[in-house]
Amino acid sequence: MSESETENRIPPKKARSRSRMSIDDKTNKTLKDLDVKTPEAIGELFAELSLALDSERQHLIGEGASDDHERAQKVKALRDRWLARKGGQVSLIDENWLKKAPKELKPTVGRAFNQLRQQSASVETEQLLQDVPIRGSATAHPETTKAEFGVGRPSVDITLPGYRRPLGSIHPVTRVMREIEDIFLGLGFSIESGPEVESVYYSFDALNIPESHPARDEWDTLYVNSETVLRPHTSPVQIRAMKKHGAPLYILCPGKAYRHDNPDSTHATMFHQVEGLAVDTDITFADLKGTLEYFAKKFFGDKIKTNFSPSFFPFTEPSGELVISCVFCGGEGCRVCKESGWVEVMGCGMVHPEVLRHGGIDPERYSGWAFGLGVERFAMMKYDINDIQLFHQGDVRFLEQF
Ligand code: PHE
Repeated sequence: MSESETENRIPPKKARSRSRMSIDDKTNKTLKDLDVKTPEAIGELFAELSLALDSERQHLIGEGASDDHERAQKVKALRDRWLARKGGQVSLIDENWLKKAPKELKPTVGRAFNQLRQQSASVETEQLLQDVPIRGSATAHPETTKAEFGVGRPSVDITLPGYRRPLGSIHPVTRVMREIEDIFLGLGFSIESGPEVESVYYSFDALNIPESHPARDEWDTLYVNSETVLRPHTSPVQIRAMKKHGAPLYILCPGKAYRHDNPDSTHATMFHQVEGLAVDTDITFADLKGTLEYFAKKFFGDKIKTNFSPSFFPFTEPSGELVISCVFCGGEGCRVCKESGWVEVMGCGMVHPEVLRHGGIDPERYSGWAFGLGVERFAMMKYDINDIQLFHQGDVRFLEQF
């Protein structure tokens, strides 16, 4: 048997007397007084404290209280014993162990101390008041209630209402997406979807963005492998829908898109788009203009003015941006619209013949228009939200406003 094992079995005198000391004796001494010199010994010491904290808490919960007053007293006593600023165990440990620890042990003591401090939240007043049952009461702790059922005491008032869980609400992105869907469903469009992990071919080549084209940079995105990307826009669904249904075709595709943008108040690596596509005989730019103008007024209200400005997308020709009068200043000029009174809200254009061909549709017979919009951006304009990150952080204080 090695020496250290012997040591484990028969603790030296000092160590034995150390563990027989009450924890209060210990927290009033320094680590040096306690002869605690190694990380292992520190670990043991804190483990002992952690057990003591838990068992004192469990004891109080098991014991319960006869009424509110007694509960408040008992809770205060236990809370103060551990958390009082002056003389509470946690602050004694801080004073006597942590602050006075030799430099080389400080990090170990610090870490252990932080854990204990976290654990000690379980004896905060509010927490304990919830945990400690009042004997014979309907609001008793579930475990106590069970025990009391056993001895046949009528302890549960089953006519009391149950716990109410807070109701969630619809996420603003979903809400705006549905609103957009509704408008287009009313025009006879149907909803399509496609994969978020998409082939390079559908994401780029079929959309007339060859590998060498500089426009590919903007969408060149998160590659899963050399043939697969997280789709940078919902436009690949145009091709999928054309191949699946042929013409005539009136579809809308809401969904997620991914880009290598750096996150800031207007950019996120994941965001939502709605893609629209209409293919039929005799579709002209006038159809595109009329439909998008109708949509913009339905969504933002009749007061807004619309306009189109020229743009470029490899998959539409001609390409444009739908521009609306600024929803914030009504066209007067403000910070949001950079004093111009107008904001670009979506890309659009007449479907490029090459794209129709890739979708298996004869461009001699059919023509079409398409658009793509950012849902978060629409939500930001509609609800006056100034940071796109808010949509993806899951903070209920933000979300419950919708
Ligand atoms: N896919 C384009 C984008 O993500 C938007 C767009 C869609 C433009 C359809 C024209 C037609 O920016």
